[in-house]
Amino acid sequence: MKVFFFSLFLASASAFQPLVSSQRKTIHLAQSSDPIIESLDLSERRKFLGSIATAAAFFALPLEAAQARGKKLDYKAVASDIASLVKADPDKGPTLIRVAWHSSGSYAKDDNSGGSRGGTMRFPSEQAHGGNAGLASTAVSWLEPIHSKYAKQGLSYGDLYTLSGVVAVKEAGGPIVPWSSGRIDEPEEAVTPDGRLPNAETGPKGADPSDAQHLRDVFYRMGFDDREIVALSGAHALGRCHTTASGYDGPWSPTPTTLNNAYFTLMSNLKWVPKEWDGPFQYVDAPTGKLMMLPSDLVLLQDESFLKWVKAYGSDEKLFLSDFSDAFAKLLSLGTSGLTPTEWA
Ligand code: HEM
Repeated sequence: MKVFFFSLFLASASAFQPLVSSQRKTIHLAQSSDPIIESLDLSERRKFLGSIATAAAFFALPLEAAQARGKKLDYKAVASDIASLVKADPDKGPTLIRVAWHSSGSYAKDDNSGGSRGGTMRFPSEQAHGGNAGLASTAVSWLEPIHSKYAKQGLSYGDLYTLSGVVAVKEAGGPIVPWSSGRIDEPEEAVTPDGRLPNAETGPKGADPSDAQHLRDVFYRMGFDDREIVALSGAHALGRCHTTASGYDGPWSPTPTTLNNAYFTLMSNLKWVPKEWDGPFQYVDAPTGKLMMLPSDLVLLQDESFLKWVKAYGSDEKLFLSDFSDAFAKLLSLGTSGLTPTEWA
C-alpha cells in the first residue's frame, strides 16, 4: 500500500517538474510508461495527477490524526469565554492573573518539578498552600464551567489557568502575551510541597534589606533574574489584597483594573507608612491611607539591583509592558515541553 502511494507521489512530482524548469506549454513524460497519462494534455495531466496525489495523502493519514484534527480545540473561543468573565466584572481579571502566576510559580528548575504543565492547581491539596489563599473560591471556581464546556474537546486545566492569565492581561489594556497550548494534566502526586511561592512578610516586621534574598531565592529557583523579578512584580498595578484571602487589605494603585506602570511610580513617589490596624503588618500611603504596599513590595526600593529597574519602569511604561510580556510568557511556560504556539486573541 505504502509503495503504491509512494509511486503516485513520484508520478505527480515528475509531472510538475517541467513546469518549474521550463516555459514549455507541453511536457513529454518519455519516462512514464503509462499510456493513459501520455494521452492527456498538460492541464488534464495536472488535474488527474493532482487529484490522485490528494486522495493518496487523504487515505494515508492515520485515523487518529484525522480524528484529533476534527476535535481541534478552538482556543479563541475559550479565550473569549474567559474575557466575558472579566468584561462582566473587571475586578475578576487580576485574580485570574494571580491564578495563572501561582499555578506556574511552583516551578523549580533544578529538578524541573512544578510549574503550570500539570494543571495541579485544580487539586484542593495545592489550593490549600498558604500562598494560594482565596483562589479556590474565586478564580479556580470561576474557571470551572469553562473547563466543563471544553473538557470533551481536550482542554487541560494547565492550559486553562495559563490562558486565563494572558486574557486578563489583555482585558486590562496590557500587551497580547504570546501563549502556547498543549499542557497535559498530571495526577495529584505532581503537586509540589507548600512553601514555593514568595512570602509577603519577608521579614519579622516589615521590609528589611536582607529580604531581597528571599525574593531572589524564590525567583532564581524558577530561573528568573533581577530585571524579570521587578518586571513581574509590576503586576501589582492590578487588583488588591483581600482580608478574606491573604489577610492584607487594599489596592496598590487607584487604577486596579488597568495594567500600567503606576506600581513603580507610586512606590517611588509616595511616602509609605505602617498601617495602624489589627491585621498583618503592611504599608499604606501617607497622604490618603487608601493605597497599600506589602513589605515584599518595598524590598524593591531597598536593593540597588532591584531599584535600578523600578526607576527604569517608572520612567518608561513601554519598556515595562514589553519586559512584563516577555517575563510573563516565560513564567507560564516554565517546565513545559512540546507546546504549540497558539493564536488566542
Ligand atoms: C514578588 C513576590 C510576590 C508576593 C509576595 C505577592 C503577594 C501577593 C499578595 C499577598 C496578594 C494579595 C492576595 C489577596 O489577598 O487576594 C497578591 C495579589 C496579587 N498578585 Fe502578587 N505577589 C508577588 C508577585 C506577583 C507576581 C509575580 C504576579 C504576576 C505576575 C502577581 C500578581 C498579583 C495580582 C494580579 C494580584 C491581585 C489579585 C486580586 O486582585 O485578586 N504577584 N500578591
